Amino acid sequence: MTSRRSFVSGLAAAGLGTSAVFRDSAISSLFRANLIAGDRSPDQVAEDENYWSQIQRAFDVDRTMINLNNGGISPTPSHVLEQMIRDLRFTNELPVEHMWRVLEPRIESVRRDLAREFGCDPEEMAITRNASEANEIMILGLDLKRGDEVVISNQNYGRMITTWEQRVRREGIILRQVSFKVPPPSQKYILEQFKAAVTPATRIIEVTHITNLTGQIMPIRELVEFARPRGIEVLVDGAHAFAHFPFTRDDLQADYYGTSLHKWLLAPIGTGFLYVRKDKQKKLWPLMPAAATQDNDIRKYEEIGTHPAANHNAISAALAFHRGIGADRKIARLRYLRDRWAKRLIKESPRVKILTPLDSKYSGAIALISVDGLDFGKLGTWLMTNHRIVNTPISHPEFTGLRITPNVYTTVDEIDLFADKMTHAIRKGIT
Ligand SMILES: Cc1ncc(COP(=O)(O)O)c(C=O)c1O
Repeated sequence: MTSRRSFVSGLAAAGLGTSAVFRDSAISSLFRANLIAGDRSPDQVAEDENYWSQIQRAFDVDRTMINLNNGGISPTPSHVLEQMIRDLRFTNELPVEHMWRVLEPRIESVRRDLAREFGCDPEEMAITRNASEANEIMILGLDLKRGDEVVISNQNYGRMITTWEQRVRREGIILRQVSFKVPPPSQKYILEQFKAAVTPATRIIEVTHITNLTGQIMPIRELVEFARPRGIEVLVDGAHAFAHFPFTRDDLQADYYGTSLHKWLLAPIGTGFLYVRKDKQKKLWPLMPAAATQDNDIRKYEEIGTHPAANHNAISAALAFHRGIGADRKIARLRYLRDRWAKRLIKESPRVKILTPLDSKYSGAIALISVDGLDFGKLGTWLMTNHRIVNTPISHPEFTGLRITPNVYTTVDEIDLFADKMTHAIRKGIT
């Protein structure tokens, strides 16, 4: 049986500075959870409410609303928030000394911890404030000339498309947006849509690792393997992927990757990372200029002026919590919660369509539901105002629906209540 000591030293051996950042009760919760899990498989633990009630206790969330929009931002566990607040207070006592001299250098431990989790060298890992910043460095940082072509999909994130469109207006590059069906018939089919849009003038493909619209996981490695021999760069927007489902840099073979950490890692709001393969750094400009001596230094992407050290330093505490659960257990639970409502509602009526692949490794917690005969906008408002269930109405030119996204702190009662209300709406309407 795991002893408390070996569990804690296991976290420490994982490269995580537990003593400074891990409040005792957070360790106790994870330790108890780990004892409950024993040596059962992630799928078995996914259904064990004893285990997940320990995880739920690590959060001080407002349960007067049922938050099924964890695709926006997520709450951080209480001990992570406390560390950040502690560091903010300490900062404010004497900022030039406490923040710049004591706290800011600790970004190097965060870099090391994140690099280890992602499977890259720390010298390839830049800490950013969110995925938008990381992605905009990728999108705006590569030199392109008039007439050069970029391929994206029309399911890429809105802000990233806007960023490309600015380059179209400013520099005369050509943007090609591919479309694909949801759910797609296969991963190969998605790949074919991208391949068909590539021409001899294509320089870049930008792709989301998992879409924010339907939760579709994209064939990143296959795209990279297609693009690299043709001299095409693949930029990966992983805003929703990191710490949502398990993967490493080498699984993807990616050269560039941007993510948020305030979504699935459950790090404090205002955290993200940018990975750039070592030999690609020289040619990728930072958003805020850095000295020529920093051309090959990943820290050039962090030259952003004065900013709080507390937020990014608390990333390591969130990472320790993520590892305490374990990536395999986490994704198994997230899929369990998704299937619990999605499969029940599919059985309820043939009018229900889930536009996300179920029973597949190409999706996770995020799923999009549409119900024939029900207006998704009105349904979303009804759930929110009449039942205080937070959801995300999605309106894309090719499909619409409600995006539902639980997280590790979501209870099965909350999921069941949502499914009860949906059942009511399907049977009797929303009046
Ligand atoms: C696919 C995708 N990319 C980028 C972003 C931007 O993330 P952030 O707001 O954390 O910068 C989001 C946010 O939801 C997203 O879903």
